[in-house]
Amino acid sequence: MITASLLIVAAYLLGSVSSAIIVCRLMGLPDPRTQGSNNPGATNVLRIGGKKAAAITLVGDSLKGLIPMVVGHLLGAAPAVLAGIGLAAFIGHLFPVFFGFRGGKGVATALGVQIGLFWPIGLSVAAIWLFVAKVLKISSLSALISMALAPVIVWFFWPDNALIGMQLIITGLLFWRHRSNIRNLITGTEDRITR
Ligand code: G3P
Repeated sequence: MITASLLIVAAYLLGSVSSAIIVCRLMGLPDPRTQGSNNPGATNVLRIGGKKAAAITLVGDSLKGLIPMVVGHLLGAAPAVLAGIGLAAFIGHLFPVFFGFRGGKGVATALGVQIGLFWPIGLSVAAIWLFVAKVLKISSLSALISMALAPVIVWFFWPDNALIGMQLIITGLLFWRHRSNIRNLITGTEDRITR
């Protein structure tokens, strides 16, 4: 019980470390919270600083989800504890204690959680993201479609109620964080991937 609580708190703290803000600071780029979509995430870092900065941000934000899940597995955590760890890392990214509780939209961190939970789950979600991004060239739409399907993918590979519940909450919060993107998609003004 103590170990589970510690893992969940540690996952939240790790999730609270914003890769986008740190990468932009280290690379002498503008603060992603004040440029482009104002979102501290890989897509916005791509707009501001290009592919290299975006790739580092993507990997950094994914690791925040992946590492706590792997540690959970190594310590033999039950599915309900893994669900708590994954949710904590994701919530840390959305509401980071180190950055005034104003974080990102959670796509990369959710992907890290899914890969760390069971790699075929993460691989399936990433493949859908990549396919939609390749065809439609809209990052937010790729995220919304792949994460909408993620609860079904979790159910398919690991039909556990706590894990499906975790993914449903992650998907719900992710949609809520993408509400401005959804508005733009409806009006046809959403930004496209051009780099
Ligand atoms: O990962 C976030 C992405 O889905 C949308 O980002 O900057 O276009 O709002 P952005």
